[in-house]
Amino acid sequence: MARSQIIGTGSYAPEKVLTNADLEKLVDTTDAWITERTGIRERRVAAPDEATSDMAVQAARRALEMAGVRPEELELIVVGTVSPDMPMPSCAALVQAKLGAKRAFAFDVAAACAGGLYALTVADQFLRTGQVKRALVIGAELFSRMVNWEDRNTCVLFGDGAGAMVLAPTEDEERGLLSSHLHTDGTLADILCIPGGGTRKSFSEEVLRDKLHTLHMNGREVFKFAVRALADSTHEALAANGLEPRDVTHVIAHQANLRILEAVLQRLELPLEKCWLNLREYGNTSAASLPMTLDEANRAGRLKEGDVVAMMAIGAGMTWGSAVMRW
Ligand code: ACO
Repeated sequence: MARSQIIGTGSYAPEKVLTNADLEKLVDTTDAWITERTGIRERRVAAPDEATSDMAVQAARRALEMAGVRPEELELIVVGTVSPDMPMPSCAALVQAKLGAKRAFAFDVAAACAGGLYALTVADQFLRTGQVKRALVIGAELFSRMVNWEDRNTCVLFGDGAGAMVLAPTEDEERGLLSSHLHTDGTLADILCIPGGGTRKSFSEEVLRDKLHTLHMNGREVFKFAVRALADSTHEALAANGLEPRDVTHVIAHQANLRILEAVLQRLELPLEKCWLNLREYGNTSAASLPMTLDEANRAGRLKEGDVVAMMAIGAGMTWGSAVMRW
């Protein structure tokens, strides 16, 4: 069975930069607190006329250009997002139209901050079975419209952006996505959620007044769970391929919090230098984070043929997982 290989990557971040100093003017916080507790210095915020699919298309065009693939050649588009332009149709359908990818079927995957990894895994299954030959995977998220800008516990963490990958099958035994391992624990839904605005509590004066349409989080619980889950699933993914942590050349991880990543890498006995970091500049871009990080590392020339790349992501659900790729 053919494996999926990433033949192009791209990313996009909106122009507007919101620094920790800017946030000091909005909520009761300090640059020192945010930097120390999260590692984040600034994040990007989408322009008022910019929606998630606009960012997704920008990232996609860059990935397609690198891959040398025309939109008409695409047979599948999967977008990881929980902040689509509108409840329906999917963000992926809007992206398909904007790109002119007429042959591609397109759908969204909702796995919050694990959305990039979930979308990659779903697309990989279509490639492995031979059903499609060219797939576009995107993680795109516009959380600046979903956080409560009066809640210092959450608004300092997130940023907007999009990342994309173009996948093609490879028969090369040595290369490609070796395996991915996804998990969900829906009993933890309430530690990270947007409780209102869906069908349980549809839009009402109460929802708006209590800001139930914005992100609610128990940060300490998320933190504790994330460290254990990411370390365990990465061990699982490496073991499934007969690899040890010391075999890993690069870690491409969802960028939630520097302290989470430090703790995970410590558990894996891997030096932090192996992990590409960009949360200082972008904060947590949710589903966009992993593909944006991969694109940065790729464009910096860091990924060499044969390198073992360990990917990991975690988000609301809770959803999480790890994958191993030989570049
Ligand atoms: N500025 C100043 N003080 C703050 C801020 C802020 N922005 N936010 C919270 N505080 C206060 C709290 O109110 C609390 O005050 P209190 O002791 O008087 O009640 C104090 O700081 C300490 O709060 P803690 O929650 O204990 O701080 P902690 O060290 O756990 O850091 C944080 C909080 C950064 C949210 C951390 O728990 C975290 O990163 N959790 C993971 C959450 C995450 O990454 N979510 C992203 C989405 S999920 C994902 O991507 C995996």
